[in-house]
Amino acid sequence: MRKLSRNDPCWCGSGKKLKNCHLKQDLTRRRAPRKAAPRRDGITIKTDEQVAGIRASGQLTSEILDMLENRIVPGITTDQINTWVHEATVARGAVPAPLDYRGFPKSTCTSLNEIVCHGIPDSTILDDGDILNVDVTCILNGYYGDSSRMFLIGNISEDARRLVSVTKKCLDLGIAQVKAGNHFGDIGHAIQTHAESHGYSVVRAFVGHGVGIEFHEPPNVTHYGHPHTGPILEPNMVFTIEPMINAGAYQVTILEDGWTTATADGSLSAQWEHTVRVTKSGVEVLTD
Ligand code: MF3
Ligand code: CO
Ligand code: CO
Repeated sequence: MRKLSRNDPCWCGSGKKLKNCHLKQDLTRRRAPRKAAPRRDGITIKTDEQVAGIRASGQLTSEILDMLENRIVPGITTDQINTWVHEATVARGAVPAPLDYRGFPKSTCTSLNEIVCHGIPDSTILDDGDILNVDVTCILNGYYGDSSRMFLIGNISEDARRLVSVTKKCLDLGIAQVKAGNHFGDIGHAIQTHAESHGYSVVRAFVGHGVGIEFHEPPNVTHYGHPHTGPILEPNMVFTIEPMINAGAYQVTILEDGWTTATADGSLSAQWEHTVRVTKSGVEVLTD
C-alpha cells in the first residue's frame, strides 16, 4: 500500500484530508516515548507507567473482540468485520495497528479455515462450518495491545471444534508457564507437547513477540522448544503468546498477496493470542 500524503483522504474514513484529521496522531501516537532501555538480549523491562498504558490498550483490544462475538455469523463478509474493528478502534481514539503496517492494507487480520495467519479481509462470505481467527491490535496513546480469538461459524465439524479447543488449551498452558525465573523455552515446550499429543503440529514460521512500545519487539516467542532454554522471564517483560496449530503438517505457504499464509497441505489451522506481563509471582493477561 502506498503511504498516504497530507492531502489524501484520511484512513479513518471521515472524508477529511489526512492533514486535517489523523496526521498528527499518526506522527505522535504510533510509538510511545521509550523510557525503558533494552537489555542485552534486546528485551525491554517495561516501567509501571508503560504497563498501565499497555493494559489500557489491551483492554480496548479485548472489548473490540467481545463486540464481534455476537456479530460474526454465516452470511457476513470478512470486510464487514474489518469495518466493525476499524470503526470501534477509531471511535475510542485509538489506531488499528495493522493498517499500513509494512503495507498491510486493512485494520485487522481475518484467517479462515486453512489460513494460518495474516488473512486480508475481503468480500469472502462466511459459511456454515467455517472457523475464523480475528486478530486485533490497538495502538492507544502509543501503546500496543495484541490479541486474537477463534470464531465458530454456525455448526462446525467435530474435527474443527477439537482443533479450536486444543489450540485454546495450548495458549492457556503457555500462559501457565509465565512467571519470573522460568525460561521462554518452557512456554514453547508446554504448547508443543500438548498440540503434538493430539496429533497436531505447531507452526514454526511465525512466533509470538515482545509487544507494547512497538508492534513487534524482541524476543521471538516460539511455540515449540525445550524446557530451561532461552532467555529467563523477568517481571514487567510484556510479550504475546499466539500458537498457530495445524491439523496436518506444520509447513506453510505465503500466497501471492505477500501476506495471507495457508497450511502447505491444505489442512485446517487455528490460533489464539494474548498479550501477557510477567509478574513476580506469575502472570497478568493484559488482553483478558
Ligand atoms: N497481529 C499480528 C500478530 O499477532 C500481526 C499482524 S501484522 C499485519 O503479531 F500487518 F498483518 F497486521
Ligand atoms: Co502478535
Ligand atoms: Co495479533
